[in-house]
Amino acid sequence: MATLATRTRTTAGVVLAVLVAFYAPMTLTYFWNGPSGPNLQDHVFEFLVSPRFAFGLGSGHDVRADGSAPHFATFATTYTTMWLHSTIGTLTLVTGLSQFSERLRRRNMALHRTLGKVFILGCLGVFATASSYLLQTDSRLVFSGPAFEEVLWLLAAGTAGLAILAFVSIRRRDLVAHRELATAAFALICSAGWLRAMWLSVEPVAHMGKEMDNLFGIQFAAAFLITCAMVYVRRFWRGQRGADSPLATGRAVRVAAATGALGVLVLAVVAARTDWYAAHPSWFVAGPWPVILGAALPWALHTSWLGWMAARAGRRGDVAAHAAWRTYLVGGLAGPAVGALGLGFARVVHGMPLQQAWFMVGYLWGVGLVLAYAAHATLTTRWAKRRPVAAPVSAEPVAA
Ligand code: HEM
Repeated sequence: MATLATRTRTTAGVVLAVLVAFYAPMTLTYFWNGPSGPNLQDHVFEFLVSPRFAFGLGSGHDVRADGSAPHFATFATTYTTMWLHSTIGTLTLVTGLSQFSERLRRRNMALHRTLGKVFILGCLGVFATASSYLLQTDSRLVFSGPAFEEVLWLLAAGTAGLAILAFVSIRRRDLVAHRELATAAFALICSAGWLRAMWLSVEPVAHMGKEMDNLFGIQFAAAFLITCAMVYVRRFWRGQRGADSPLATGRAVRVAAATGALGVLVLAVVAARTDWYAAHPSWFVAGPWPVILGAALPWALHTSWLGWMAARAGRRGDVAAHAAWRTYLVGGLAGPAVGALGLGFARVVHGMPLQQAWFMVGYLWGVGLVLAYAAHATLTTRWAKRRPVAAPVSAEPVAA
């Protein structure tokens, strides 16, 4: 009989496949009508949300008070790049999803290898085309503004970096690390679809428009996507995963907590000095609430959950899981400090208005989690090879 964990996994897999099937035709055809659309996605969102959302203020099609329509105009000069980007992105998304089918992999290993190479090359293609667009486009004209531009740079680097690490680890016959890193690269490839999920879920409640929905959604995007990867890969840990990591020690947790507390302090001081209601020409200004609901609250809940997962694995005596959750906890605890650094960079180096720079904080908390995940995957498997783990070796996946 299927366990709760198996049923949950199957349901999550079906939901993901349905979402990809819904999104892929829209993104594949995004530029088929030329650089300014309207395209299939616009009409789907016109029907599902509202005509105002698809074509009004903050939609990308809107004309500003000075008569310019800046967003889609950027695609006129980057049309070939973006046509390639959306086509390669769609191919990468669909190919990546198919790699999670155990049945397909067992039946035809050669196909899995070929599709794996397509996926890795696709991630690099998405990186190259996204970078080309960002290099050619003024950050103020990137959809959702300079904060979004910084996020896209980080996303591009993260996707390419994880894909390269996944490739290197399989060349070294390191199956566990390969699986973890490829899963994380796929999670980041889902970012484009994640934003559409935000549009569908946040817009009907908050009516903020696409640009603001994007800013709200990016705050917990990386954290959410990498958490999906953590939950998926944990069944492969037992007996195959090292536990002797400097990032999983009590000392590492204490240092991360102290650094994070300092980050909270800095952020609290900056929050008190922020003009939360400064008007913006392209999106609805909702005061501090989008940051409280999209970054502060999710961070507090998520970090508590990571602590609970680590403690529970420790009580079970599952050393591999304990080390993994503790490392992720270190990433989570340090989140406010990473966020404060990101806010400082956005404000001082990039010259971003403070109110926009705040949207970097939540995303950088997620970046901290991605780094902790990648560090754990690379550090502990290499060490596990040198010194086998003492935990009992089991062919069965860990249920909890
Ligand atoms: C994961 C790494 C990715 C990065 C770094 C990235 C980056 C970018 C950038 C820089 C833009 C232009 C932003 C703007 O509109 O101002 C963009 C737009 C777009 N991307 Fe991606 N992308 C990624 C993944 C994907 C994937 C996997 C798909 C397809 C499944 C995709 C489809 C699109 C489409 C259709 C657009 C144009 C629509 C829009 O502006 O929202 N992207 N992306």
